[in-house]
Amino acid sequence: MTSQEAQRTSVGVPRESTPGERRVALVPGVVERLCAQGLDVVVEPGAGQAALIPDDAFTKAGAHLGDPWSADVVVKVAPPSAAEIAKLPRGSTLLGFLAPLTDPDVVARLREAGVTGFALESVPRISRAQSMDALSSQANVAGYRAVLLAATECTRFFPMLTTAAGTVKPASVLVLGVGVAGLQALATAKRLGARTTGYDVRPEVADQVRSVGAKWLDLGVSAVGEGGYARELTEEERAEQTQRLNAAISGFDVVITTALVPGRPAPRLVPAEAVRRMRPGSVIVDLAGSAGGNCELSEPGRTVVEDEVTIAAPLNLPATMPEHASELYARNVQALLELVLVDGRLAPDFSDEVLAATCITRSDPGEGHP
Ligand code: NAI
Repeated sequence: MTSQEAQRTSVGVPRESTPGERRVALVPGVVERLCAQGLDVVVEPGAGQAALIPDDAFTKAGAHLGDPWSADVVVKVAPPSAAEIAKLPRGSTLLGFLAPLTDPDVVARLREAGVTGFALESVPRISRAQSMDALSSQANVAGYRAVLLAATECTRFFPMLTTAAGTVKPASVLVLGVGVAGLQALATAKRLGARTTGYDVRPEVADQVRSVGAKWLDLGVSAVGEGGYARELTEEERAEQTQRLNAAISGFDVVITTALVPGRPAPRLVPAEAVRRMRPGSVIVDLAGSAGGNCELSEPGRTVVEDEVTIAAPLNLPATMPEHASELYARNVQALLELVLVDGRLAPDFSDEVLAATCITRSDPGEGHP
């Protein structure tokens, strides 16, 4: 490392260690822009391998290969393991998905280690922060991929086919929970020719559902929470929703569920009884597996078949499209990095609305990483 490099703020990109995690936090195009801004990017050898990005693509973009953990700022995708946190020097900064609402151990360990942590899950859903919204960028990937998975597992066509041998009816697809992933799922299923319907507890979603050519399923249960998210339903509302959904679900070939309430177990929207009433060959793709699942019969991380209905509950669909998922994620990371740096130096303004929401642990003042 040259003396000039030693003075520049360094950004470390580790190789992800979580099993199945194929994404990488920065891609060469973004590295090039960060280097042009005077940053020193240190990439762990093989960091991009699972995303099909060779080391020399990073070095050509201006990074150098080395130990990413001693950098001033470490950027990651998956929440860090205890062993990874132990590699972070006191006073350093970590930026990535840090599971602040679902894994309190990560927060406690980062605090104990004297690391300043910025959690991408906590970026507020406001216009100014859209470029940093990694939940949205990755949810788009998941919604798209969920439909392709459903189309592959389904024993019937998605589009209507008119052939010399007769006409095939289009598949009907229901999406439960129409946030970013759900809207992308509706749009993707429509592009494949399916008849689409969407349902959410936030009534303002109805127009968005119609804007992608889908029907709105009105169950008369609404639950608007804070920050644009849904709130948990009361016992009474839940019973009403379950009863009405139970009746509606059996008419669909494919049900894709994405319903989540931040920091809470996923709402149970598809009871076993509803699955049993679906036509054989139908498919459920449950994207809420990491929060326990929206379907009673889902087994998070597995695909099971119950009464000839396939139920898939994949845990990390964005990792199955590592090139584009990493590219989008890297742009979110770049945007957040640009907010914590002033003239190439780490100088986060903790009173900034976005940083105040995103910063989940803070090293003691004076502990700044050299
Ligand atoms: P999410 O991943 O937290 O949840 C997915 C969907 O499930 C949500 O639409 C939610 O309303 C729904 N849901 C929760 N409980 C349900 C239940 N019991 N039954 C049916 N549906 C249920 O949502 P996501 O995708 O993170 O979006 C959350 C909000 O943030 C949305 O309002 C979205 O439009 C908004 N947003 C705003 C952005 C911005 O302004 N910058 C960017 C991205 C999203």
